Amino acid sequence: MRALVVGEYAPLDRLEISDAPVPEPGEGEVLIRVAAVGLGFVDGLKVQGKYQTKDPLPFVPGSEIAGVVEAVGPGAGLRTGDRVTANVSRGGLAEYAVAPAAATEVLPDAVSFAVAAAVRVNYLTALFALRHRAEARPGETLLVLGAAGGTGTAAIAVGRLLGLRVLAGASTEDKRQYAVRAGADEAVDTADPGWRAALKERGLDVDVIFDPVGGALGEEAFRALAWRGRHLVIGFASGDIPSARYNIALLKGASLVGVDIAQVQRREPETWQQMNAQIATWLASGELNPAIDDLVDLDDVGEAFRRMAERRAVGKVVVRVADIDATHRK
Ligand SMILES: NC(=O)c1ccc[n+]([C@@H]2O[C@H](COP(=O)([O-])OP(=O)(O)OC[C@H]3O[C@@H](n4cnc5c(N)ncnc54)[C@H](OP(=O)(O)O)[C@@H]3O)[C@@H](O)[C@H]2O)c1
Repeated sequence: MRALVVGEYAPLDRLEISDAPVPEPGEGEVLIRVAAVGLGFVDGLKVQGKYQTKDPLPFVPGSEIAGVVEAVGPGAGLRTGDRVTANVSRGGLAEYAVAPAAATEVLPDAVSFAVAAAVRVNYLTALFALRHRAEARPGETLLVLGAAGGTGTAAIAVGRLLGLRVLAGASTEDKRQYAVRAGADEAVDTADPGWRAALKERGLDVDVIFDPVGGALGEEAFRALAWRGRHLVIGFASGDIPSARYNIALLKGASLVGVDIAQVQRREPETWQQMNAQIATWLASGELNPAIDDLVDLDDVGEAFRRMAERRAVGKVVVRVADIDATHRK
């Protein structure tokens, strides 16, 4: 089968598609014929060996997949031909991937593979962060940093669905316009050093910050919180982990709240199920229309990774591995 096989940690311009054996599903696992894969910022770090954990070489990256069940291991409880979406630790960017049945969900017919792959991590992260960690209430003001990025656009959409007023922080005019088209009420130019003062002048109090960027911007944003504000720590796309000043937390009665979607299924299975059901309901009703940057072919995955690393991506990047949507809808 064709796969993105990483034989050594290398720069993003050295990625190549090569031949690999089709994996076999073991006990409680399914083999999925992959249609689409959602790319995350972390995948790009992993292929370069720059992530905090290292995948053993050689490996196939890609963890957010959607496709059709091709074969079922013992006790897996799914059927061949089921349209599914799954989270895997690695192995997604290939024509076939093995997934634990416990991390695989059957897809409603109305949801395309591309949308399913786009939704898998980012929208669950946004929902967990805003509803379950910040406990955001309708009418509160949310500031999303990196708002035109993958998690950022998810936070805009989920924020709107939860009844929040959404301010979208982004570094370029194009990105700000994209974020407003994605549903934000207003844009904030976070490349302008005076952005926090400008918010203050306009009397805009920020109750919740969704921060996938970190660095100097994250530190500045923490200071923009209103009384009892919550700063959600999502990630560090800037490459720098900020240091929050404890006195700001004291003066504003503010909280710094960590979010790690990777641990929720294991630690809070009920919350995980509730959130998956909520996302499925929003998708089925059409209230949620995930923003996809564009669909790239497997051969162009290197350029897709570079777009994310060079801060050029908008929305979620999804890789089309096989065009099997039409044949697998009832
Ligand atoms: N905690 C969790 O459970 C969880 C779940 C998913 C993802 N994450 C993390 O969230 C972070 C963002 O992921 P994402 O998918 O939203 O990434 P993305 O689509 O690439 O967006 C990241 C945004 O960060 C900003 N940025 C600032 N400095 C940057 C730099 N040096 N390089 C790249 N981007 C930079 C950019 O916005 P501007 O140009 O507008 O500043 C960019 O749009 C990653 O660290 C990822 O690991 C965490």
